Amino acid sequence: MTQDELKAMVARAALDHVTPGALVGVGTGSTVNHFIDALATMPVRVAGAVSSSEASSERLRRHGIGVLDAGAVERLPVYVDGADEIDPRGCMIKGGGAALTREKIVADLAERFVCIADASKRVPVLGRFPLPVEVIAMAAPQIARRFASIGGTAVLRSGVLTDNGHPILDVRGLVITDPPALEAEINQWPGVVTVGIFARQRAHTCLLGTPQGVQTLVF
Ligand code: 5RP
Repeated sequence: MTQDELKAMVARAALDHVTPGALVGVGTGSTVNHFIDALATMPVRVAGAVSSSEASSERLRRHGIGVLDAGAVERLPVYVDGADEIDPRGCMIKGGGAALTREKIVADLAERFVCIADASKRVPVLGRFPLPVEVIAMAAPQIARRFASIGGTAVLRSGVLTDNGHPILDVRGLVITDPPALEAEINQWPGVVTVGIFARQRAHTCLLGTPQGVQTLVF
């Protein structure tokens, strides 16, 4: 199976975690695109979605699924999203698609985070994938220097601004053995909008696509 077929398989499996007629939180990325397409095939559709990006909102609307503003919703039963890496505790690196801030906001509204990913995303320790960090532009150089002081090399993602209008730093060279502590630390740095470590908003369940089928990890 190709990586894309694995992504489509877990996206379909995620429908088992969605309540027909209820709201659903929807992430961003190629795996989630399959999930949005699968949502449109439900015999009883969801009542609507809270989306983490303009791209996902547009795809949802194309399928006739209503998109609600996050501010209009107090709680969501479930948030479904992909990941760039996921560790044995369900902590993740996210933001490869530059949607990390809205992803964290919508994940925080949800009772459960269901991560959908192909098996290549499972790692023993986070950090091989460059850590995305959304920043206020004027602070990017000083944030890059702070990363250098802890062993990271931060590079501005070329030609990319987030849906919120901010640049992204991608940080290589970190070995993230304590994701909750590093997330809390980086979040204190002036000018950081959101760090792509999802430890506080970690996954409760991961549906992992393997050539043998969907493997369900519960954290
Ligand atoms: C977007 C994300 C995505 O969930 C992550 O990049 C995985 O993407 P894909 O499903 O395309 O592999 O965090 O900001």
